Amino acid sequence: MTSHASSTQTIPEVSAIPRHVAIVMDGNGRWASKRLMPRVAGHSEGLGAVRKIVEECRKLGVQYLTVFAFSSENWRRPPEEVGFLMKLFLKSLKGEVSRLAENDISLRLIGDLSRFDSAIQEMAQFSEEKTAGCKGLTFTIAANYGGRWDILQAMRQCLANNPGLQPEQVTEDLLTSYLSMAYAPEPDLFIRTGGEQRVSNFLLWQLAYTELYFTDVLWPDFDVAHLHRAFDWFSQRERRFGRTSAQLASAGADNPV
Ligand code: IPE
Ligand code: IPE
Ligand code: MG
Repeated sequence: MTSHASSTQTIPEVSAIPRHVAIVMDGNGRWASKRLMPRVAGHSEGLGAVRKIVEECRKLGVQYLTVFAFSSENWRRPPEEVGFLMKLFLKSLKGEVSRLAENDISLRLIGDLSRFDSAIQEMAQFSEEKTAGCKGLTFTIAANYGGRWDILQAMRQCLANNPGLQPEQVTEDLLTSYLSMAYAPEPDLFIRTGGEQRVSNFLLWQLAYTELYFTDVLWPDFDVAHLHRAFDWFSQRERRFGRTSAQLASAGADNPV
């Protein structure tokens, strides 16, 4: 069972700094095209932004940061771009893991890694093991991840592990315990750069009550000041989880801000 309450079952604790931030890092290709550079140059540049945002989240006391690096639909891109992204993924895992460990950041990967080549799968496992004891921040990279894939794999695993399971025994808690992010609370804040206002099959189940923030800034340009702006916006949201404003006001101390 997951130890994190579901936002539709129990009202979660609310804080000014989001406990879990999920980011769709979009706009790399357009960042490069604007500079008459090949699209892939934008992916390389985007890596610098990831580094800065991870460090800042750690400093600000965010507990979970989850970034969408490669979707289950991104295989539809030209093979050269997919190939470049794979090489960049492997290179960045190799290059960053020690620094993550030094900064007390644990790395997790979610998604169907079985479609990646063995070098990536081995490096992914090594990186998770090397940073497993780190407590400062849990940094999750979603790679070959899709929200629908996640719900399906959870359902399949749930059925496989519970032979004879009756329909009425399938509860939210049971299903969420099989989701690939069962170790984390649901995201408080979702950020998408690059101007599009869509979820693109990211954490479908978990975004039920997440605050959604969209910015036109292209991912390689997204810096610490932009992150602070998103956090300021977040701190002004009234998170009602289905209740009325008046109920929130009278609940007072039960709903720390
Ligand atoms: C996001 O940037 C990175 C990945 C999907 C891997 P894009 O590559 O989607 O950039 P745009 O949206 O084409 O500008
Ligand atoms: C979403 O961006 C996936 C990642 C950032 C990894 P896309 O650029 O693939 O999304 P769409 O195709 O514009 O919806
Ligand atoms: Mg895009």
